[in-house]
Amino acid sequence: MSPSAIQVSTGAPLIACNGLRKEYRMGSEVVHALDGVSFNIGEGELISIMGASGSGKSTLMNMLGVLDTPTSGGLHIEGNDIAKMNRDDLARLRNHTLGFVFQNFNLLPRTSAVENVKLPLMYGNLHGFNADERAKECLELVGLGDRMDHHPNQLSGGQQQRVAIARALVNGPRIILADEPTGALDYKTGKEILQLFRKLNESGITMIIVTHDQEVGEFCDRQLVFRDGKLLSDSNNLQSMGAAE
Ligand SMILES: Nc1ncnc2c1ncn2[C@@H]1O[C@H](COP(=O)(O)OP(=O)(O)O)[C@@H](O)[C@H]1O
Ligand SMILES: [Mg+2]
Repeated sequence: MSPSAIQVSTGAPLIACNGLRKEYRMGSEVVHALDGVSFNIGEGELISIMGASGSGKSTLMNMLGVLDTPTSGGLHIEGNDIAKMNRDDLARLRNHTLGFVFQNFNLLPRTSAVENVKLPLMYGNLHGFNADERAKECLELVGLGDRMDHHPNQLSGGQQQRVAIARALVNGPRIILADEPTGALDYKTGKEILQLFRKLNESGITMIIVTHDQEVGEFCDRQLVFRDGKLLSDSNNLQSMGAAE
């Protein structure tokens, strides 16, 4: 076996951002999409990333999901410095530690629910799961045991999002990153998806939900609010300030 740079260190926060910056150059202008952001996320949190459109939420999500690299600043996940990880380590982190859920589900059309859920197992199946059994287990967990062979166009929006959540779960992630996961759903269906996130969180998965919806944000145990690429408030700090009074 080849040595890996990945070490699971105990005591470190699950995610640590230190002065994280992301700049985009648009001709002669520089957009500060993330403008020096620092916070930690602990294992088992159910946390929302909030802010108006353009405040940097998706940019942050891309950093936390190691889909894009910061311009500067530090990002540690599971105690590992992202900047020091090689491509294989980053791919393993994306495929096995992280699960992704998007606003528009991003399912393959003309492909059954069970095949959609199996897909990430094709990119490396560290646990040696039986792909069919594992995909079915995840679909049952999200309440779709009776819709295995349905294609996305035969499912409601809420059901499609459940398939996408089952797909995010299939590799046994420690963290799920969801970008506006209720944005395309009606109010009641959105609530049901949030309840599912709560259930997954109670099973031990750290849930990070990006939203511009106040109610979704408040459903979570902790809220980080962004404005113009800066961290405007962290409800954890508000509480500790309140307690000190
Ligand atoms: N690829 C990009 N190139 C240039 N500017 C970008 C890019 N992605 C995002 N931005 C800019 O960065 C800022 C933050 O965007 P984003 O993270 O998408 O915000 P949010 O998800 O909160 O709506 C916005 O001003 C946006 O226009
Ligand atoms: Mg966004």
